[in-house]
Amino acid sequence: MVNSLPSKYRRLTTKDGSPTLEFTVDGVVENMHNFHGAFAETDYIYGEAMRRAIQAGLKKLRVLSVGLGIAYNEILVSSFLLKAQSQNARSEPSDSFEQTTAARATDSQIELLQSFEIDSYLKQSFLTWLVDEELTALGSTYDDVLKLYAEHTGENASEIKSQLGLWLEQGKFALADKFSIETNCPEPFHVLFYDPFSNKTNPDFWTEQALERFLQKWAADDCIISTYAATGALKRAFKNQGFQLVKRAGFGGKRQSFMGLRGQLSEPENPAI
Ligand SMILES: C[S@@+](CC[C@H](N)C(=O)[O-])C[C@H]1O[C@@H](n2cnc3c(N)ncnc32)[C@H](O)[C@@H]1O
Repeated sequence: MVNSLPSKYRRLTTKDGSPTLEFTVDGVVENMHNFHGAFAETDYIYGEAMRRAIQAGLKKLRVLSVGLGIAYNEILVSSFLLKAQSQNARSEPSDSFEQTTAARATDSQIELLQSFEIDSYLKQSFLTWLVDEELTALGSTYDDVLKLYAEHTGENASEIKSQLGLWLEQGKFALADKFSIETNCPEPFHVLFYDPFSNKTNPDFWTEQALERFLQKWAADDCIISTYAATGALKRAFKNQGFQLVKRAGFGGKRQSFMGLRGQLSEPENPAI
């Protein structure tokens, strides 16, 4: 029997039909995704970063995900790498999936996908779904996210899931608890999905000083950081740490969102700010 979802969470369907979770933390209600589309938002903000990292031809990718939530980003990484590998095997770009991943996608492999999730229920639920195949109240939510990525990439849903499970077994996917700016980083990362809650709930993550410390510790020389936010603090932190700032239109009514690029992942025509 599946236990019901604890009352602090509420599953909702966003406008593109994809699921999200509403979450009450210390009396504050937070939504994990934009109501215009959880899947579309994730693809726009984080999918773009992953596509660029694969396209850059980095062979051993280290990917950091701050805020597992309902694991859109983790499933994204597994599905995009499977897609890049199958394109390589066929040596042909696919029209349906961004052509950008094809040409230089050679053999991008995951070295480490490191995720953090402070909420023990979310963390445990995901591991249960991934490894034990036991029923969890969020199981159908992960299944729905998996199905969306399978459709998007043309890859097989059970392979996307098994690959993540295998990475976990091999120590290539690690899921830790609380992330803080003071958390030590053993070796920096190429792709940073910066997706904790907003300034309202997580103010410590969004000051210029915190962002700079984060980049100093966690960003590899060749690095792309993507986030839904667009603030002066982010802009200054990028500048001070030698990142190019890419200003993108915000998703679903937001004015802007920022991406930072450095080293091999930077754009020649877009000099560092
Ligand atoms: C916006 S949601 C992330 C959505 C997620 N990326 C996804 O794909 O569904 C933010 C998540 O960050 C988690 N979080 C907030 N503060 C955190 C911290 N200090 N360390 C780790 N996780 C944190 C929250 O519990 C929540 O699940």
